[in-house]
Amino acid sequence: MSEKLIEVVDNAGVVRLTINRPKALNALNSGVLHELEAILVELEARKDLRAVLITGAGEKSFVAGADITEMREKTPEEARVFASQALRTIKRLEALPVPVVALVNGFCLGGGCELALACDWAVASDNAIFGQPEVLLGVIPGFGGTQRLPRRVGPAMALDLVTTGRKIDAQEALRIGLVNQVMSQAELETYADELAKQLTGNGPQAVRAAKQAVHDGMDQDLDSALALETALFAFCFAGDEQSEGMGAFVEKRKPNF
Ligand code: CAA
Repeated sequence: MSEKLIEVVDNAGVVRLTINRPKALNALNSGVLHELEAILVELEARKDLRAVLITGAGEKSFVAGADITEMREKTPEEARVFASQALRTIKRLEALPVPVVALVNGFCLGGGCELALACDWAVASDNAIFGQPEVLLGVIPGFGGTQRLPRRVGPAMALDLVTTGRKIDAQEALRIGLVNQVMSQAELETYADELAKQLTGNGPQAVRAAKQAVHDGMDQDLDSALALETALFAFCFAGDEQSEGMGAFVEKRKPNF
């Protein structure tokens, strides 16, 4: 039986996806993208989903980009189809209603960086290397990098990275806001466990509402976004979670969500 290109481990609704092509530094080819999309379609339907963590197999690479060997012979039309498939898949990941976190365990280049940018936040191991080196190959980022990178780190830094193609280390990625934290490979594992514990201890509906408020609000003017927040805040009072959470505080016990 052929090995899966993406390993899926589900721990009480916290789903960890591991891109599993370590010999090609987990580069994204059509097979990986198709498999990822099929997994995401299943996850979208799950009411018990609490969080998604995404990482790369091995200790060397998160994802070293789109697969250059596969792209090499593509015509413009084939390149458009390839990028559209990737964009659709990455958008599905971004649009999951729960926190999606990239555990960047090494090279995070090109399409890999674009995958991490579609996550709600990223944390990195101290050996991680980031970059959008597409111009070195005579192309530009095609999986969303020219749009999501400036939104995360600002247009000046994004233009520096996408036009020079220079690579940056984890500390610089931290300084520019591309990742939230930097730690050792071993600490990355502890971080993932702790995060899962934290997120599953919170009200699931509230966590989803918080993500929705930030995501949907970012595309709106401030007044509309604040109105959205108010609506979602009020919505939280409609279910059982708010009475359990506030009741537990007053009764000096842990909430049971
Ligand atoms: N596509 C296909 N194969 C890749 C790959 C990629 N993006 N990155 C690495 N590999 C393969 C290598 O070809 C090599 O395979 P072989 O053993 O069969 O030769 C294997 O992974 C290991 O790589 P290296 O021997 O090169 O490892 P290294 O430690 O010497 O270098 C590296 C690591 C600096 C990441 C180097 O592999 C590299 O520069 N990779 C390409 C990075 C890149 O340019 N990414 C952007 C791709 S374009 C893109 O992503 C477009 C887009 O936006 C959609």
